[in-house]
Amino acid sequence: MKVVVITGSPHTNGTSAFLAEKFIKGATDAGHEIYRFDAADMDVHPCIACEKCHGEDAVCVFKDDMQELNPHLLEADVVALVSPIYYYDINAQLKTVIDRFYANDAQLHNNKKTVLMVTMADKTIESAGGALNSFRSMARFLGWQIAGTVVGADCWTLDMLRKTDFPEQAYKLGREL
Ligand SMILES: Cc1cc2nc3c(=O)[nH]c(=O)nc-3n(C[C@H](O)[C@H](O)[C@H](O)COP(=O)(O)O)c2cc1C
Repeated sequence: MKVVVITGSPHTNGTSAFLAEKFIKGATDAGHEIYRFDAADMDVHPCIACEKCHGEDAVCVFKDDMQELNPHLLEADVVALVSPIYYYDINAQLKTVIDRFYANDAQLHNNKKTVLMVTMADKTIESAGGALNSFRSMARFLGWQIAGTVVGADCWTLDMLRKTDFPEQAYKLGREL
């Protein structure tokens, strides 16, 4: 299967990047093809709801790095979203990419699987409630099947994450897609 992994964190060696790497290792070991898009390193303009993408020309007005992601997104069998929790939700870098799905949402309504993996400092998973709720609603809207979630609570730092079984959960999720 074609697996697109979209990460949000600006930390190359951070906690959510570690989960992304484990997930990718699992998916690669299972023979899947990976395309990774690190949103924090890319130029992606927030959607301005101009509706040009849904008009006559049917194209987004922004000629930025979404042009690189979009063909992979359209072909993907699996879309994995990975983010640190910032103020009870996914971070802005990842949300900006998701909002730009809007330009292709008619084509994205298809038979994909999706995954959400988050990391956060708080010990209680309620802090990921906003991210999980919007993820489930987005999946329902797009008709995507949720293949799994990993909620890395009490993982403020990479050292804390390494002592948990969240990396193993991420690996298994990739391996068993
Ligand atoms: C702006 C900002 C907001 C944050 N908000 C939360 C939060 O609401 N709940 C929480 O548990 N952790 C919060 N954190 C902590 C991060 O989620 C946590 O340190 C995470 O491991 C960072 O992931 P990364 O290393 O992949 O960037 C916040 C961190 C930042 C920088």
